[in-house]
Amino acid sequence: MTNPADPKVRVADHPLVLHKLTLLRSIETTTDNFRRLLREISTLLAYEATRDLPTVSVQITTPIGPCAAPVLAGKKLCLAAILRAGTGMLDGMLDVLPNARVGHIGLYRDPTTLRPVEYYFKMPEDVAERSVIVVDPMLATGHSAAQAFTRIKDLGAIAPKMVCLLAAPEGIAALSALHPEVEIVTAAIDERLNEHGYIVPGLGDAGDRLFGTK
Ligand code: URA
Repeated sequence: MTNPADPKVRVADHPLVLHKLTLLRSIETTTDNFRRLLREISTLLAYEATRDLPTVSVQITTPIGPCAAPVLAGKKLCLAAILRAGTGMLDGMLDVLPNARVGHIGLYRDPTTLRPVEYYFKMPEDVAERSVIVVDPMLATGHSAAQAFTRIKDLGAIAPKMVCLLAAPEGIAALSALHPEVEIVTAAIDERLNEHGYIVPGLGDAGDRLFGTK
């Protein structure tokens, strides 16, 4: 649902999302279950993030007879995953958006400045004709997300949405300051960032938990 304090932030607080998110946060959750839960929640977040896609009515025939029925209209979609944890959200979103194209943005956080450094950027050739949804499980400082939106918009694409699992208030503020038109769809807004830029209580390092690298 839309957050009344900030209409640009939509918290998908459906009971299924809340339940799966709690399992995902737990330190007891194994890598295989983390991966599965992230995929499942991503599907539910894709559903929430696309609820305002425009439709047009077309004429079809069912086995019983003719009827007018809605189909998706408007710009085609592109999912832009911020590496590496963003890739963990792709399959779940593509399950319900099978025609979307996929871009990848490689950004790592400089450990001292916490600023993003780009090492990879690949978008579909026709990205300017698409509506881009940026995906990253953790909206922490917001610097990487803000940089991703800047790069995508520089290509002439429209990028109206960010889908994440957890958002820190600091990340929402930083992204909204640079890209106020972007709507953020998240499963939860957590308390704050710690001194290392991690979300509290969060779920730890999403990439490490997804790939079992720590
Ligand atoms: N990235 C993560 O993986 N976790 C955080 O808490 C913040 C950024």
